[in-house]
Amino acid sequence: MLRQRLNVTSRCDDKLAFSLMEARPYLRKIRIDRSDIKTEDVYPFSIPAIASLDEIDFHRDVTFIVGENGSGKSTLIEAIALAMGFGPEGGTKNVRIQTSNDLSSLHHHIKLEKSFKRPKDNYFLRAESFYNVATYMDTTQYLEGYGGKSLHARSHGEAFFSVLTDKLRGNGFYVFDEPEAALSPSRQMAALTAIHDLVRKESQFIIATHSPILMAYPNSKILMLSEEGISEVSYEETEHFIRHSALQIMLQRYYTCQKVAQVRF
Ligand SMILES: Nc1ncnc2c1ncn2[C@@H]1O[C@H](COP(=O)(O)OP(=O)(O)OP(=O)(O)O)[C@@H](O)[C@H]1O
Ligand SMILES: [Mg+2]
Repeated sequence: MLRQRLNVTSRCDDKLAFSLMEARPYLRKIRIDRSDIKTEDVYPFSIPAIASLDEIDFHRDVTFIVGENGSGKSTLIEAIALAMGFGPEGGTKNVRIQTSNDLSSLHHHIKLEKSFKRPKDNYFLRAESFYNVATYMDTTQYLEGYGGKSLHARSHGEAFFSVLTDKLRGNGFYVFDEPEAALSPSRQMAALTAIHDLVRKESQFIIATHSPILMAYPNSKILMLSEEGISEVSYEETEHFIRHSALQIMLQRYYTCQKVAQVRF
């Protein structure tokens, strides 16, 4: 009996030891420490998904955070980025700008469980304040990693894209909030390829997005924020996929009708 028990324990230990030997995810898990939360009924704990959040296990490659407008994606992703040592407006960890005072306190309550291995590269790409990061890079004239050219001298989408292709080097930990905001559908497809290349170079991504194109990335986990809390869903279960499929069916029907109409007349 004891032997059996020992065997079970050692198998569990083996599994645990094996998972702990994996370098990625660099950020394995977060836990919310509620012991010193004073008021649960004000922002950010008034957001249903944050109110019920205990812990999140991250995917080795890509974890998507999805949900309706106002479901708490940015609140959560900013808190993760702050807890990991990024500045509130994004960029590398060296960029420490803050132009507003509307930060939530969530990062103070996040406990991090990290890998034994530290990422060699780090970036927080935040659509909302990317303009401020671009201005900061101009001021410091540290444009080497951005193709040597001011980010303001390019379109919003081009500047965003240059972060993906010029700045990020791999072996990295990357947090993105709505990276698709500036990207056309074909650039989003190209962004997927860039993300995949970086994943192959041992990178981990945590991405808040509304983009059905980005969240179709297969090596990923999708976490849906809603009034009911946070739950893991498959791509096919997301509203984005369902709407995309419905639209395809509607378009197919539309074109079939058009063809029939053309034949008739
Ligand atoms: N600084 C703040 N103070 C008080 N409430 C806030 C603050 N920032 C956001 N909220 C509220 O918290 C909720 C979640 O906001 P959040 O920006 O995290 O949503 P989101 O899921 O990122 O939405 P979107 O898809 O529109 O970007 C919203 O109801 C919002 O009004
Ligand atoms: Mg948001």
